[in-house]
Amino acid sequence: MKNVYIETYGCQMNQADSGIVGKILQENGYILVNSDRQADVILINTCAVRDNAERRIHNRVHDLQSLKKNNPHLKIGILGCMAERLKESLVNEDKVDIVAGPDSYRRIAALIRESFAVDVELSKEETYEDIIPVEINTDGISAFISIMRGCENFCTYCVVPYTRGRERSRSSESIVKQAVNLFEQGYRDITLLGQNVNSYRYNDNGREIDFAELIESVAQINPLLRVRFATSHPKDISDRLIDVIARYDNVCKYIHLPVQSGSDRMLEKMNRKYTVEYYKEKINKIREKIPDCAISTDIIAGFCSETLDDHKATMELMKWVAYDSAYMFKYSERPGTLAAKKYPDDIAEEEKIRRLNEIIDLQRELSLESNRRDIGKVFEVLIEGESKRDKNKLFGRTSQNKVVIFDKGENRKGEYIKVEIGDCTSATLFGKKLL
Ligand code: 5AD
Ligand code: SF4
Repeated sequence: MKNVYIETYGCQMNQADSGIVGKILQENGYILVNSDRQADVILINTCAVRDNAERRIHNRVHDLQSLKKNNPHLKIGILGCMAERLKESLVNEDKVDIVAGPDSYRRIAALIRESFAVDVELSKEETYEDIIPVEINTDGISAFISIMRGCENFCTYCVVPYTRGRERSRSSESIVKQAVNLFEQGYRDITLLGQNVNSYRYNDNGREIDFAELIESVAQINPLLRVRFATSHPKDISDRLIDVIARYDNVCKYIHLPVQSGSDRMLEKMNRKYTVEYYKEKINKIREKIPDCAISTDIIAGFCSETLDDHKATMELMKWVAYDSAYMFKYSERPGTLAAKKYPDDIAEEEKIRRLNEIIDLQRELSLESNRRDIGKVFEVLIEGESKRDKNKLFGRTSQNKVVIFDKGENRKGEYIKVEIGDCTSATLFGKKLL
């Protein structure tokens, strides 16, 4: 009963958490394997943010039950946000053996040893800061470091404050140490992760360290180490942070700034705590201080009572910002959230899909325009590996987080090269290496 397979769904945060679980298991004598068929224990790290994410997991667990026929000792465990949300019902209805919420991972080995185990207690302090995660499915170049856990924003649509609990930050010292360690192993692109990194705060013997200071410390490790971060809440992205991004070449010129809607009425109902005007001011400030900064966003289509005018306002704002990319979703009611309790989910499914498709089509145009503006420009690209479609090509990313494909030549993954962009689609840039 020693081979464990960990499968990860959902956000980058979950990917980082799976590394923590992996490390805790290794320390307890377990072996991480790469396929469910070799495993005695299958752990699925899950997301609860939308209903379709959860449905996918229920189906996956259902399919996995067939493996139990060949291996009656096989154990299946659910980790993460869905574990926290659905608790015992996963044992009763989905027939899983282990349910462990995001703050229960230190106890994971003990939970595996029991015949059935549910541990979904949330903590106010747990940050796993002393645990150096294993890098699962890594390319050896990009890594995530979780710098804080939990969320206290309580956007009315969102389940995360309930599944991940109170906000807490890890010590800056442990974060910098992990980043140094990764750099020494050859990693060159690090993303600092939190639900709202701008509210990172750590009291270091009476001196308060905020996110701007933290990111500066990580950037100073080495100019060859690229630093990214996600996610920022528009209400508290600070001028000091914008300033640090502008000042350090190795802090990537890319900000993910989820807007959710372009209508003040919707923003208020979502409890986002900012207006469209305030959001635009932030964008203006970013553009002024960091002219080459790429900006992406998250958008929800069809939130409770959204009118066609609200929807149009979202599309107008998307055009105004000219987002380089976006993650777009239709509203999915989550039980227990304020929206589920207070506001009827009153936009018909087909209408949500229609609005979402309009938003997706618009973003495709905006992304294409953004990529076209790069044609003729030269970017420093960090090589991340071979192109999946063509073995004679390599791919890498620009500081702006855009994927670039170019001829292989002598170069290797982990190197920086200068590439001139010659062509593009809405998703990819194509370029030529400058000699
Ligand atoms: N329905 C649809 N999308 C949601 N998101 C969060 N909660 C919901 C929901 N109930 C989206 C938001 C958030 C991203 C991670 O997921 O856009 O920024
Ligand atoms: Fe999904 Fe949110 Fe949990 Fe990440 S924190 S796994 S996005 S519900």
